[in-house]
Amino acid sequence: MKILVLGDELLYQKAAPVKKIDKSTEELARNLVETLHEGKGIGLAGPQVGIPERIFAVHVEGDVPRIFINPSILETSQELVKYEEGCLSIPGIYVDVVRPKTVKVQAWNEKGRPFTLEADGILARVIQHEYDHLEGSLFIDRLSEEKREKILAKVARAQNREKRKRRKA
Ligand code: NI
Repeated sequence: MKILVLGDELLYQKAAPVKKIDKSTEELARNLVETLHEGKGIGLAGPQVGIPERIFAVHVEGDVPRIFINPSILETSQELVKYEEGCLSIPGIYVDVVRPKTVKVQAWNEKGRPFTLEADGILARVIQHEYDHLEGSLFIDRLSEEKREKILAKVARAQNREKRKRRKA
């Protein structure tokens, strides 16, 4: 699947609930995990591949790939931590973002089985990052306006360079 990058409208739209978890959902889940691995990422949400539905895949080191469908964040810790984030939709940008340290989430997996998970560390971080994608929000939206503007300008410069290269090729 093709990963949409910053500037694509779909990344700013709130995703709709998955109505039915069936064979096509399982296939979508497989494709998400595959695309995630190809991109060497640790999380990928439906909207990032042009599917505006509430589903995301997460695969952090030392864990199995996990699929979250129609997730709800039940609890987040009061304790906040800084962690460097990146995003397959904003290639080349890595910035510290402050978020709750732990998260408790309820969701369904690709087999339609409901589960609740309490996560800490990198897993808690990526779940919150992917959940934001379903809400039409990116990690750079959590930064100060000044920092965000700097990043947007940097990304625009890189995208323009790419365009010029492609025109020449
Ligand atoms: Ni992302």
